[in-house]
Amino acid sequence: YDNYFGGKIPDFLWFEKLLLDQGGGLNEPAAVIVETVQGEGGINVARFEWLKGLEELCQRHGMLLIVDDVQMGCGRTGPFFSFEPAGITPDIVTLSKSIGGYGLPMALTLIKPEHDVWEPGEHNGTFRGNNLAFVAATRAIEEYWADDTFEKATLAKGEQVNRALDAIADRHRGLSVRGRGLAKGIAFEQAELGTKVCKAAYDRGLLMETAGPSDEVAKMLPPLTTSVDEFTQGLEILGDAVDAVCT
Ligand SMILES: Cc1ncc(COP(=O)(O)O)c(C=O)c1O
Repeated sequence: YDNYFGGKIPDFLWFEKLLLDQGGGLNEPAAVIVETVQGEGGINVARFEWLKGLEELCQRHGMLLIVDDVQMGCGRTGPFFSFEPAGITPDIVTLSKSIGGYGLPMALTLIKPEHDVWEPGEHNGTFRGNNLAFVAATRAIEEYWADDTFEKATLAKGEQVNRALDAIADRHRGLSVRGRGLAKGIAFEQAELGTKVCKAAYDRGLLMETAGPSDEVAKMLPPLTTSVDEFTQGLEILGDAVDAVCT
């Protein structure tokens, strides 16, 4: 992910060296798969220029660029596809989770026509093609994506959440806020506090989960339909939970 080496070595320098090095162990990978914001990985946000750089690297080495938008797509970061503001055009995009519109089971793989070798109906299986999910997904796209109202609302709510999280982080040491749109996290330098804060929030009626390799991030992935008032209420609970654990 972006800044994997903590700013000490540019990520692409390392990646490209491995690709060019005959003994690097990375012989012509077919593709690179990336999340623009790592969800389970700890809400690690990739800069747009980093994504652009990755796209160029993939083109230089004949690797397909796959964006895994299962968690960050469908408006989670604002635009329908999370990579839109980076100005990249991935070869393959995966979508799932919110695409079902109402939590209904559905997943999509979008493939550039020149790479699409499937015949119609070839990719099939007993439980594929959930008609109810297809109808709900179509309706959700018609309802929320006819114009940019929903995207703007998500970005505005994201700002509201940012302000509240920044205020919470400012009250304590070793906390930092990460995220884009309505994918947010509070990262704790003392990793075990992530789990403790989520438990304290749960005890107060707010469901949160942790993310990151050491569960060091208290992660917020609220429904995009959450109202401003509900956010105010939820963020108050989160503030109380953090204060209780960190004070
Ligand atoms: C980024 C990402 N990709 C893929 C998956 C797996 O998705 P699915 O269960 O639809 O295969 C998840 C599930 O959490 C995810 O967060």
